[in-house]
Amino acid sequence: MNNNTFVHKYIKPLIRKDDLVVDMTAGNGNDTLFLSKLAGKVIAFDISKEAIRRCKEKLKDCDNVVLINDDHVSIDKYLQEKARLFIFNLGYLPNSDEKTITQAEKTLIAFKKAYELLEDKGYLIVTFYRGHKGGKDEYYLLSEHINKNRFHIYETYCQPKLDAPVTVIIRKDQSSTSI
Ligand SMILES: C[S@@+](CC[C@H](N)C(=O)[O-])C[C@H]1O[C@@H](n2cnc3c(N)ncnc32)[C@H](O)[C@@H]1O
Repeated sequence: MNNNTFVHKYIKPLIRKDDLVVDMTAGNGNDTLFLSKLAGKVIAFDISKEAIRRCKEKLKDCDNVVLINDDHVSIDKYLQEKARLFIFNLGYLPNSDEKTITQAEKTLIAFKKAYELLEDKGYLIVTFYRGHKGGKDEYYLLSEHINKNRFHIYETYCQPKLDAPVTVIIRKDQSSTSI
């Protein structure tokens, strides 16, 4: 099972019909489409115009999705209420020039903001790709932050292959140390 299949299986029972959920890296819209079938409303970000174009096409029949063509570090500009789930599927847009790629330092800022905007008992899901340039640094920087702050890691998923993608599922708990 690849990481995306794992994530979809995992989150399906967690989302309720009136939930607000956020896709921080919409890409080709696969996660956004999946979430739109489960949640009340989905907000989906991508910094790439091409990704947003692909998403508009894929999501043309979904009336509960708001697509935002902006950097996900600006999440707090668009979201004032708390959300039930945030998902980050890091890296670059598949089948693109691979120039627009998530950057460790910015991803950390976006992660911190997302955690603040997460409901208590809500979920934050991150999939890291360690095989491309910068991917390992991003994984190490966020892992250090997650471990240092003793977040409740509910599950991790990684196939037993060198540099295979790693998925981390965090559940917010008010007893966790705040950032
Ligand atoms: C692996 S793809 C996401 C795949 C997507 N979840 C799907 O289901 O198809 C990663 C995406 O992150 C986007 N991205 C990179 N940096 C970003 C940023 N700072 N803010 C928002 N999106 C960003 C890329 O443009 C790319 O489309």
